[in-house]
Amino acid sequence: SGEKDKAKREGHDLAAKFYHHVLMNTEQGKQAYDYLVNRGFSTETMEHFQLGYSPDQPEVLKELLENRGFDLQEMEEGGLLFRQESSWELRDRFRNRIMFPIRDVQGRTVGFGGRTLGEGEPKYLNSSDSAIFHKNEMLYGIDLARPDIRKQNTAVLFEGYVDVISANKAGVTNGIASLGTSLSDRQAQLIRRNTERIIICYDGDNAGQGAAKKSAEILERQGLTVQVAVLPSGMDPDDYIQSYGTERFRKEVIEASVPIMSFKLQMLKKDKNLQDEGERLQYIEEVLKEITHLSKAVERDFYLRQLADEFSLSLDALKQEQFRLYKQES
Ligand code: UTP
Ligand code: MN
Ligand code: MN
Ligand code: MN
Ligand code: MN
Repeated sequence: SGEKDKAKREGHDLAAKFYHHVLMNTEQGKQAYDYLVNRGFSTETMEHFQLGYSPDQPEVLKELLENRGFDLQEMEEGGLLFRQESSWELRDRFRNRIMFPIRDVQGRTVGFGGRTLGEGEPKYLNSSDSAIFHKNEMLYGIDLARPDIRKQNTAVLFEGYVDVISANKAGVTNGIASLGTSLSDRQAQLIRRNTERIIICYDGDNAGQGAAKKSAEILERQGLTVQVAVLPSGMDPDDYIQSYGTERFRKEVIEASVPIMSFKLQMLKKDKNLQDEGERLQYIEEVLKEITHLSKAVERDFYLRQLADEFSLSLDALKQEQFRLYKQES
């Protein structure tokens, strides 16, 4: 109900302020603070994203919530506390983690992602779904990025919280991320309500490239124009910024993003030897299939001509072949 949801959000706001205070101002938070400084985050960045630290104690947040008159059962339902199986006691859900508050479009804190300082599992513990938190409808960073997304009519979609934050530092202030799950139609709709264009900038590994392709299809279905920014393999946007700096990230990754079709062609080319006749023919067939799936006639024509030029083929032959493939599929 409305009142209960409101209390859950207020509990989250209090928790975010508390975790942030612990990180910024206390001895307990020093290790986490140093960890973030080592990763290149300034105090200003920690403030901007209200980063925090959850102390390594079982019930500090619980006691704070209790002192402030919150109904603890409700805070459990909201995901801030959990009931320990052995003792049936309520405990803090997040312990000894760097806290990333997750806010809705209106800027209300409704969940957290919590990262281990070291190697522990899981690397990120996220709030589970609750009355106020639906993972597949949320976008990390949307509340802060929305004005710039609208101004630029472009959003940049990342995989990770840290990528959004690092990119912000690099002047890419229109960045958002889904919460560790694959992009949903609901998230794509939320993006579409704020912009017509989006740049996908996922991790430069095979998983990231595959996910980029999937997300692109979902975003296109909502009517967005999609570009893809490709990173060197083995790097995510944050790694790239650490290694090459903010300016190269802006110029050589974000501004160098390519239309989704060029990205798909790059991917098809990647593991083929086009000097080999068989592989070349296979490549041409795969490209034709991709072209057939394009919804805009102008784009189909454009890429067909490009393919014809690239391999010195006649447009007629390509169209015939395309027609054959099309019949095969339908
Ligand atoms: P990554 O494994 O790429 O982490 O997961 P990262 O963002 O680069 O984080 P750092 O640099 O190691 O600190 C990308 C995103 O997937 C989700 C989180 O949203 C994370 O930001 N994720 C990852 C989880 O939800 N749980 C996990 O255990 C790992
Ligand atoms: Mn502060
Ligand atoms: Mn990854
Ligand atoms: Mn990553
Ligand atoms: Mn990373």
